[in-house]
Amino acid sequence: MGQSYRVAILGATGAVGAELLQLLESRYFPLSNLKLLASPRSAGKTVSFQGEHLPVEVVDEHAFDDVDLVLASAGGSTSKTWAQRAISAGAVVIDNSSAFRMDPKVPLIVPEVNPDDAAAHQGLIANPNCTTILMAVATYPLHRVQPIRRIVASTYQSASGAGARAMEEVRVQSRAILNDEEAIPEIFPFPLAFNLFPHNSKFDDQGYCEEEMKMVHETRKIFGVPDLRVTATCVRVPVLRAHSEALNLEFDSRFKVAQAKEILSQAPGVRIVEDWQSNYFPMPIEASGLDEVLVGRIRQDISNPHCLELWLCGDQIRKGAALNAVQIAELLIEKDLLKPAMAMAK
Ligand code: A2P
Repeated sequence: MGQSYRVAILGATGAVGAELLQLLESRYFPLSNLKLLASPRSAGKTVSFQGEHLPVEVVDEHAFDDVDLVLASAGGSTSKTWAQRAISAGAVVIDNSSAFRMDPKVPLIVPEVNPDDAAAHQGLIANPNCTTILMAVATYPLHRVQPIRRIVASTYQSASGAGARAMEEVRVQSRAILNDEEAIPEIFPFPLAFNLFPHNSKFDDQGYCEEEMKMVHETRKIFGVPDLRVTATCVRVPVLRAHSEALNLEFDSRFKVAQAKEILSQAPGVRIVEDWQSNYFPMPIEASGLDEVLVGRIRQDISNPHCLELWLCGDQIRKGAALNAVQIAELLIEKDLLKPAMAMAK
């Protein structure tokens, strides 16, 4: 029998936490113990896993004793508070927040793209931004064959990127509007139901928001191309859980559409969805709950023969967050980079 691991989920009561639990169960992750951690708000709660009700524990400085692996999805400040403590206790942390992604000592991994970078980890691996993961899965297979020189991205991002409470806010606002009542924003700055707005992260003095700059910097790091030209416009749309993206990819010379389709049809984590006759292409409601990034409308850019256009949808909570984190954990096990002994030896 193979090894099994003592796992903690930090942020177990959140949207990504719930998906992590489901994935650990459905992918038969080799668990010997599972610890569920959250804030004092969740004290006394239980969460169901494999037919049992597991207690949620409030994270404290002893929470990571006897843990081999921490899957952290409780926001950047919580990760900053606890990651080092968990590493010192002997655990490996896979962090879903943006806190450490651009730290040169921290590998930023999409298993389909740069699995070998994981070997350099020093106890912490960062899980990339969700829009960036989806874009990387769909574009790296083409980049490998002919380097991409520039990416122009427009995103259509669901409420789930802002967590479980943001998803609930869209439901509540939708009901209010249908009842001719006022839609009151609490998590988002503006009503999202029956509306959209530029992504609600901070803007810099160049006029780009943080989400857009994550796509720029993180894609460069994941691809290992520090000068890759990327520009993005990120928009929140009233969709519950899958993100969509329109991408324009520029190459040095023409990339034949047929070849691109052939490559993407065999790419890991990608499923082509294209029926031109019936206008049937990827849609967020169909991408929700799936592991694959759905890609369609692959076509030549009529304004530039060196460019391809494509459209994708991917489950933000799944491949955009929880699944990618679990796949990183599986990769660590496969490459013998996660050892229960690391915790035992402390
Ligand atoms: P809690 O439910 O106790 O607030 P989402 O992204 O869906 O909003 O979920 C965020 C997750 O992160 C939740 O599980 C939440 O727990 C957890 N969390 C937020 N702040 C903290 C904190 N300071 N310490 C531990 N967990 C936290």
